[in-house]
Parts: sequence; structure tokens; C-alpha cells
Amino acid sequence: MASGVFVTGTGTEVGKTVVAAAIAQTLAREGRRVGVFKPAVTGLDEGVEPDHELLRRAAGSSQSDEEIAPYRYGPPASPHLAAALAGETIDPERLRGAAVAAADGAGAIVCEGVGGLLVPLAPDYLVRDLAADLGYPLVVVAAPGLGTINHTLLTVEASRAGGLKVAAIVLNPWPAKPSEIERSNRETIAELSGAPILTLPRLDLADPGSWPPLKI
Ligand SMILES: Nc1ncnc2c1ncn2[C@@H]1O[C@H](COP(=O)(O)OP(=O)(O)OP(=O)(O)O)[C@@H](O)[C@H]1O
Ligand SMILES: [Mg+2]
Repeated sequence: MASGVFVTGTGTEVGKTVVAAAIAQTLAREGRRVGVFKPAVTGLDEGVEPDHELLRRAAGSSQSDEEIAPYRYGPPASPHLAAALAGETIDPERLRGAAVAAADGAGAIVCEGVGGLLVPLAPDYLVRDLAADLGYPLVVVAAPGLGTINHTLLTVEASRAGGLKVAAIVLNPWPAKPSEIERSNRETIAELSGAPILTLPRLDLADPGSWPPLKI
């Protein structure tokens, strides 16, 4: 079984894809064959590069869209709603099978969640349930600024309440010149969570070769 991580975050748009891509790129540069996985992608109608494409590009993977993200929807909605609007339900068994297939033959697997940990994939199956079923340690992505202590610690508490291990918290994007609040947040979250804290600067997403390593 490939070693892996499951990248979650304090919410949507905090940088889960960018952090997952940086981890995948770091592993690929070390010579590992990297599989990537995202249970569901929504918001394809919005016309920006979808998560599965950035993940594939960063990992240097040849997986198909379907192999990376078995459920893909146009509306920018929670996955359970996007599925319902398409007249279907996300099947946990299919997700688990697809994740195992993505890891098969890979030296490492990087999974990205959807939104935060308590987002439903199906009405009775949360992102946290999938993370627990896959068994990979969590990487929690959080913003560096005001408000992040509460959001991050809530996510860490929800992780541990679900029996999940937090391998690292990544503050993203970490500014070149962090303010006193941002530096203090990093220390406070480290103390109160007991988890290792990493940072990721703003990246040029068009050029993965220029990214600094992000080693978990
Ligand atoms: N370190 C970074 N460098 C450059 N751009 C970033 C960085 N972090 C986040 N962004 C930008 O911020 C936006 C949100 O990031 P991202 O898509 O990774 O969030 P997400 O948590 O994966 O969102 P979603 O919940 O939609 O999957 C994107 O436009 C992304 O390009
Ligand atoms: Mg994303």
C-alpha cells in the first residue's frame, strides 16, 4: 500500500489544492511515482483550472480525470448538492475503490478533500468519514491571518474526535513579511494543537518547477 496524506482545510478556498500540489510535486521530485485523488470536484462551470488538473500537473501523473476525481460537477456547490442536482448520489464504496485504484502502483498518494472535514459527500457520509476509511494522516490547510486560530483548532478537534491523526498544519499563503499577528498565530496554533506547523508562500502556479519543497 502506498504511503499517503489526506489534505483537508478549515474551509473552501484556503489552498488545499495548492498545498496538495506542492506536496505531490515534492514527492515527485524525490523520484516517487505519485498518485493524486479528489473524491468530487464541483464548480467546473466556473472556467478556472479544475483541482484535478493542477494536482495531475504537479504530480507529473498520467491518471485520467475519472481516475483522479470520480465525481465531477458543473455547479459550485457542496458535493452532496451538486450530485443531487445531477440526479445522483455519491457512492462511498465507489470512492473507496477509486482511492485504492489511485494508490495502486504508486509510491505515494496525495488526496485532497472537499471543503472542510464536515462537508457531506452523501447525506450520511462526510469528508471526515472518507478520510477515516482511507486511513491516511491529515494535513490541515489554514489561513495565516485574523480568525485562523479558532478555525484551525476546530478542525483539529474535529479530526481527533473522528480518530484521525493530524500530521501537519500548513499556513497558506505565508507572506514574505509576516505581521506580528501572523507570527503569533503560528506560535499559538502550534502550542494549542500540538501539531507540527509548516508554511507555504505564494507560488507561481504556472511553474511547479519553481516551487519550494513541502515535505510532510
Ligand atoms: N500558495 C499559493 N500560491 C498561489 N496561489 C494560491 C496559493 N494558495 C491559494 N492560492 C489561490 O487561492 C485560490 C484558492 O486556493 P485553492 O484552490 O488551492 O483552495 P482550495 O481549498 O483547494 O479550494 P476548494 O475548496 O475549492 O477545493 C486559488 O485561486 C489558488 O490559486
Ligand atoms: Mg481545491
